[in-house]
Amino acid sequence: MAFPINRPRRLRASAGIRTLVRETVLSPADFVLPLFIRPGKGEKRPIGSMPGHFQWSVDTVVGPAKEAAKLGVPAVILFGIPEKKDAKASGAYAKDGIVQRAARAIKDAVPGLVVMADLCFCEYTDHGHCGIIRKSKDGFILDNDPTLDLVAKTALSQAAAGFDVVAPSGMADGQVGAIRAALDGGGFKDTPILAYAVKYSSAFYGPFRDAAESPPAFGDRSTYQMDPANWREAMREAALDVAEGADMLMVKPGLPYLDVLSAVRERFGLPTAAYSVSGEYAMVKAAGKMGWMDEKRTALEVLTSIKRAGADFMLTYHALEAARWLGA
Ligand code: PBG
Repeated sequence: MAFPINRPRRLRASAGIRTLVRETVLSPADFVLPLFIRPGKGEKRPIGSMPGHFQWSVDTVVGPAKEAAKLGVPAVILFGIPEKKDAKASGAYAKDGIVQRAARAIKDAVPGLVVMADLCFCEYTDHGHCGIIRKSKDGFILDNDPTLDLVAKTALSQAAAGFDVVAPSGMADGQVGAIRAALDGGGFKDTPILAYAVKYSSAFYGPFRDAAESPPAFGDRSTYQMDPANWREAMREAALDVAEGADMLMVKPGLPYLDVLSAVRERFGLPTAAYSVSGEYAMVKAAGKMGWMDEKRTALEVLTSIKRAGADFMLTYHALEAARWLGA
């Protein structure tokens, strides 16, 4: 050999040396487990498009919450399927609403677990959109400011139910400011806000809409969720949420938006989360079940990539399985 070769492979030669130089180490402490709650008792209904996930009732949801805590997963986030849906999303801010009751049950049974509230209305409206809607010259529009009144009411009701974190995901302009004002005025100055600051109008939410029974009855969410093509707009959205008082930022989905995640983490410096959404989970599960890919390796690689890109923590449907795989 006429020239000296640099040999990075020296540091890959054994499992031991690879462990020493590994830059990103995934841990169960990085995960938040999403849970779906429906009315009834003793329920555990499988979600077809998300194998391994279920719609639980308030009494049974305590099971997976305990399991999360046992495995070292520090948090869960709750989504509700209410008894009745209406145009004003009444179930979202009802005192004894479905997630309010579930939060109380989980906090009683597993006091140390962080219980987060997804704050959105698509599961609670009869039309399946994320707020109040009205007709417009372009068809229909999410009526921003009336929606903010519901956002404020819902945040208060969630904080009163004992949720540790409120996480608005509806993409109404001003929602973080509205929540901060409502919580401060209502005696919940210490309740943090995890803002779904950057949420794209994504095909990757398909299985979730099945799970939460929340597909839009007409139209789509592209007048309030973001265009997947836009990066600079994501920075503007995140800046607004920081200015309005967000304590933590989230980017959603995860894997297809690592460039955005990484920039948000660097620019704003707040604790930054990624939501590895239902479609990401379903793809890995399906390919694994077909025998086309190794589910465990693929899932851990996806989650490691999300952490490497800058996520301080991630919402993932693989939370419990990944925690087990990591040998917790
Ligand atoms: C509510 C909400 C959605 C998701 C989280 N919160 C659905 C949507 O915007 O249509 C999707 C999560 C997932 O796909 O796992 N707006």
